Amino acid sequence: MTTSVAMAVVGAGAIGRTHIQTLADAPEAHLAALVDPAPGGLALAQSLGVPCLPDVGALIDAGLVQAAIVATPNETHFPVAQALLRAGLPVLLEKPVAESLDAALRLIAVADDTGVPLLIGHHRRHNPIIRTAHDQIRNGALGDLVMASVTASLAKPPDYFQADWRRSAGSGGPLLINLVHEIDLLRHFFGEIDSVQAIASNARRGFPVEDTAAVCLSFRNGGLATLCISDAAVGPWAWDLTAGENMARFPAHPVSAHHYAGSAGGLSLPDLTLWRSDGAPDWTRELRRQRLELAAADPYRRQLSHFVDLTRQGGTPLVSARDATANLIVLDCIREAARLGQRVTVDLSPLSFDREPALTSGTGT
Ligand SMILES: NC(=O)c1ccc[n+]([C@@H]2O[C@H](COP(=O)([O-])OP(=O)(O)OC[C@H]3O[C@@H](n4cnc5c(N)ncnc54)[C@H](O)[C@@H]3O)[C@@H](O)[C@H]2O)c1
Repeated sequence: MTTSVAMAVVGAGAIGRTHIQTLADAPEAHLAALVDPAPGGLALAQSLGVPCLPDVGALIDAGLVQAAIVATPNETHFPVAQALLRAGLPVLLEKPVAESLDAALRLIAVADDTGVPLLIGHHRRHNPIIRTAHDQIRNGALGDLVMASVTASLAKPPDYFQADWRRSAGSGGPLLINLVHEIDLLRHFFGEIDSVQAIASNARRGFPVEDTAAVCLSFRNGGLATLCISDAAVGPWAWDLTAGENMARFPAHPVSAHHYAGSAGGLSLPDLTLWRSDGAPDWTRELRRQRLELAAADPYRRQLSHFVDLTRQGGTPLVSARDATANLIVLDCIREAARLGQRVTVDLSPLSFDREPALTSGTGT
């Protein structure tokens, strides 16, 4: 019989608590320690009956766990994950992989050097909705993917911004905290991004970091996408507010937030509605609507299972640090495009890595 993997959660804040709850429901792993220097961490650990350590150095010295889930502020990802990997502990590291390209590249070097599993927490990729959409796109249900439009209206309450890191340039803002998920999905569906244009504003909140942005993406194989995001605008049109991934934190409104249109059909998400024409595409004909079926599953739960597998057997992470760093490079280009008011070309050469294009139907897996 395989034994349950002893895990630490490092950072017992908003998403750390989701990971703790996910562990509570998982037979293949259990929470064996918390790491958080804040008083709330100690109180939570006591209520859960596990030790609370002040930092990862103490966790490593205590030898209590076989792996760790890191859910600390963005600018701490590199030092925390590096220490764990160097100690031989597999890491599930929350997105974004780091707060800067430099830190992300150093983390990739550590992961390569140690060979210890490092999975980045782009949890949506574990969602059956995304897997089904990806299969449909790759199998040509939309024909060639031509365009997409993505919205994220995420009106965050004032107390969300009590944590300094969330309103600081370089560690917070909806581009790094939220849009990174959308970039990840668009790359997943379209393939790599060739260039970006963007406008960003901090006019609503007045923080050093943006609160609202409008972004245009051009993909290597000709597709185009627009994204509109704000953490100060009210509306249900956001993945977080429609997909029902984290019902303890967010309601799931019955509208769509992502729209993908190809040469032969359209797809909206997260409702997974496919729109296709009978015969050759013709905008004067009514489209057939099909709601795609799937067995729903909690992406955080599936992500944890994958992480347990990596911890036990090694293997290739579904979202590697290299892959997640491509998202950071795109984000840097978006910021640069907004600053310059110009189109910026995406250069992935620091990664020596390219994902295959997905625009043409029936290619790749
Ligand atoms: N995948 C998702 O759905 C998702 C959702 C929210 C946040 N996130 C990511 O998770 C991370 C945490 O976000 P959050 O909103 O939970 O933040 P938070 O501010 O609510 O919590 C962070 C916690 O980390 C603790 N902490 C800070 N430095 C630490 C250190 N060096 N060692 C141990 N603990 C430390 C803080 O005391 C705090 O309790 C961020 O990287 C964020 O981008 C991911």
